[in-house]
Amino acid sequence: MIDLLAFPLLLAAVPRAPVYSTDVAPILLQNCAGCHHAGEVAPFPLTTYEDAKKRAKLIAEVTRTRYMPPWQPSGPPHHYAGERRLSDVQIATLAKWAEVGAPEGNPAKTPPVPAYSDGWKLGPPDLTVALPKPFTIPAEGGDVYECFTVPMNLAKTRYLRAFEFRPSNRKAVHHAILFTDHSRVKLDASYPCFGTIGTLPSAGLGGWSPGNGPTRMYEDAEITVEQGSRLIAQVHYHPSGKEEQDQWQVGLYFTDKAPSKHVADVGLSSKLIDIPAGEAHYVVRDHFVLPIAVYAVGVIPHAHYVCRGMHGWATLPDGRKIDLLTIKDWNFSWQDQYRYSKPILLPEDTRVEMEFVYDNSDANPRNPHRPAQRVTWGAGVEDEMAGLHIQAIPVHMEELSELGKALWGKVMRSVGGSFYRLPATPPQ
Ligand code: HEC
Repeated sequence: MIDLLAFPLLLAAVPRAPVYSTDVAPILLQNCAGCHHAGEVAPFPLTTYEDAKKRAKLIAEVTRTRYMPPWQPSGPPHHYAGERRLSDVQIATLAKWAEVGAPEGNPAKTPPVPAYSDGWKLGPPDLTVALPKPFTIPAEGGDVYECFTVPMNLAKTRYLRAFEFRPSNRKAVHHAILFTDHSRVKLDASYPCFGTIGTLPSAGLGGWSPGNGPTRMYEDAEITVEQGSRLIAQVHYHPSGKEEQDQWQVGLYFTDKAPSKHVADVGLSSKLIDIPAGEAHYVVRDHFVLPIAVYAVGVIPHAHYVCRGMHGWATLPDGRKIDLLTIKDWNFSWQDQYRYSKPILLPEDTRVEMEFVYDNSDANPRNPHRPAQRVTWGAGVEDEMAGLHIQAIPVHMEELSELGKALWGKVMRSVGGSFYRLPATPPQ
């Protein structure tokens, strides 16, 4: 939405007769071309004047509605690293350009198209783990969620500082989430999986989605990968109308220095999900009071198709509220993991909370059931989940176990309904 109060200011900043070369190209090359270039996920390139001119009106429309660039969180601007959000001035410039007939301006002034290399962005990896043989994505049918387990064959324990996921077929892969696993749990080399990966992994490494480059671990909180570990990749594929193949690779970057910090997963979640057919506003809540001071460094939401929106926030001991994540129009397809642009200090006794809203009516375009049916908690495509994982680094590392104990207590209370029942949270 364009902020009307800022309108006079906004108008002053928007060129009266914007041209491609100096006004529009810088916006598109910086914010769109990463996905909109040959071989990438988006259906057409947006790297030349001709590409943009043909679609000037559509570009104005998809940016006005903030459908593009894909970016789900609202909340305060510059809250997250790598935020994909156009400013109001940029949106108004694209609108004005379409309105005045999409002129080119002086082509000599058009900035160069960034060089998109096919190589590893962080240089040659210390270890490359590749899918041993290509995976076939059927031409038709629903989305495919496949988990792959690949041995890493490490000669010794290593500390992972970064990874880059590279599909061989960028058009087919919608997103991937990577884990390491050091257990002896028997898992097939490849198996269908949707809401969970079907085992408790040793570590979550983070996710990849189109338009994102390598993922770096938090500084001094590299991930310990023990000898004998395997990599588990949960990959979401999108049937394209013709049979496709993908043989992804992951480049892993290690350091020899053992980490001095650890990222704890402060998980808010609920299994108490039972949504009657037709219920358009079903709310699921959870909260947790932090026993120690932490820095919140990132947040990972999880829900399926019936979920419409989610809100996570922290209430500090002094009453101040901090937005942790607000997604008003949740779209499972653009699942992402978010990092704060600056760590957020949450003192001891901060209450972190989540509220997820579900629309199980026929009016929800993403409802997998036609007509609507009762939906309950579960890991399947037709079930629902509610999870908000706050990535937290203790301010004083020696207090980590205290946080761990409190989180464990929370888990025990939620599964131990038969011998201990928490009082229902009063509605707020
Ligand atoms: C993270 C990757 C990504 C980025 C960044 C991105 N797009 Fe897209 N875009 C896509 C994908 C994927 C599709 C096709 C699927 C869809 O429509 O959701 C698409 C579709 C579109 C469409 C067609 C929509 C329709 O209704 O047919 C337009 C127009 C578009 N993008 C413009 C833009 C513009 C303008 C920007 C930058 C301001 C941008 N995109 C940034 C991935 C991206």
